[in-house]
Amino acid sequence: MTEAAPRTETVGVSPGRVNLIGEHTDYNEGYVLPIALGERARVTISPRTTGGGDGITVSSVQLDETVEVEDPTPGEHAWWGYVAGVVWALRERGHQIGPVTAVLDSEVPVGGGLSSSAAIESATVLALDAHEGLGLSPEEMAEVAQAAENDFLGVPTGPMDQRASLWCRTDHALLLDCRDLSTTHIPFALPESLTLALVNTRSPHVLADGHYAQRRDACAAAARTLGVRALRDIGPDDLPDALARLDDDEQVRRVRHVVTENARVLEAVEALRAEDWPTLGRVLTASHASMRDDYEITVPTVDLAVETALAHGALGSRMTGGGFGGTVIALMPTDRVDELTTALEAAYVERGFTTPGVSTSRASAGGIELSR
Ligand code: GLA
Repeated sequence: MTEAAPRTETVGVSPGRVNLIGEHTDYNEGYVLPIALGERARVTISPRTTGGGDGITVSSVQLDETVEVEDPTPGEHAWWGYVAGVVWALRERGHQIGPVTAVLDSEVPVGGGLSSSAAIESATVLALDAHEGLGLSPEEMAEVAQAAENDFLGVPTGPMDQRASLWCRTDHALLLDCRDLSTTHIPFALPESLTLALVNTRSPHVLADGHYAQRRDACAAAARTLGVRALRDIGPDDLPDALARLDDDEQVRRVRHVVTENARVLEAVEALRAEDWPTLGRVLTASHASMRDDYEITVPTVDLAVETALAHGALGSRMTGGGFGGTVIALMPTDRVDELTTALEAAYVERGFTTPGVSTSRASAGGIELSR
């Protein structure tokens, strides 16, 4: 009788994120300012005991489903692709990943604009790195996790989400320069009198439906017309001249959003450093207006959440994430969060929308901090 091989399990944990400000700036090589959430994805890797070859078995605790993926190949957009895509991306880069079983257990709401997919990808790369002894650097981990999203699942997102999930730190926002991918951890801990409220608008946001890619294409086309590598290269002072050189009205609006949004991120960083919460709030609200009017990525449920928050004491409020639904953040006086919850319920009922969910958050640990 042969002895059974020892079963070793490795767990990777990585959080969802909220982007405080800097929306649709990442693929324009600009700035973003996310924080990590307390809600996390957990991926447990162990050697595969069924099937042959290099296949993987992926299970989801939430879906109560198990899938055997014999040959992870790009192009299939399914829940297991976030795990299989990381295995594929590692193998593409020459890493030996044996046949493994992955169990996925995530608290990050899907479709909430909180990067549930990046949380899974990041947790998977952390678990595989440890399981296979790969010794990946933080940047390699982020590249692999992003490659799973872009090249395996075919969703053309920028560099923010996986880096936020992996690199954020407790009580800090992550200023990421999406040109050179350099980072600065900016202290972000609100006083007790203020709370970051998250409103789940229950309108699922979807990045794979073409709106995201259209925005990205419009920015690339405008950058070509303006003769710059990326819209990051247009500063606020260059904006009037740049806009005058664009014939296409849609591109005018998109460029105005990206250029002003980059400036707002830097203004928000200064406000955080100075603990100037009213200024932070004002900048958040200006970002929302720009996403609504110029980038045209908000929807009525989202605008209603922002308007309601502002009418009930928010210092500032904006949609976070890719757009067309998802989550709204509001910088609220702590003693008015319950009032906001009640007001949102009433406002949504009146408009015939599904009741939104309100939670609160602080800047939590990213996956790398959690794995230390
Ligand atoms: C999604 C993408 C990110 C970023 C945001 C918008 O979350 O995954 O790369 O582009 O939208 O800021």
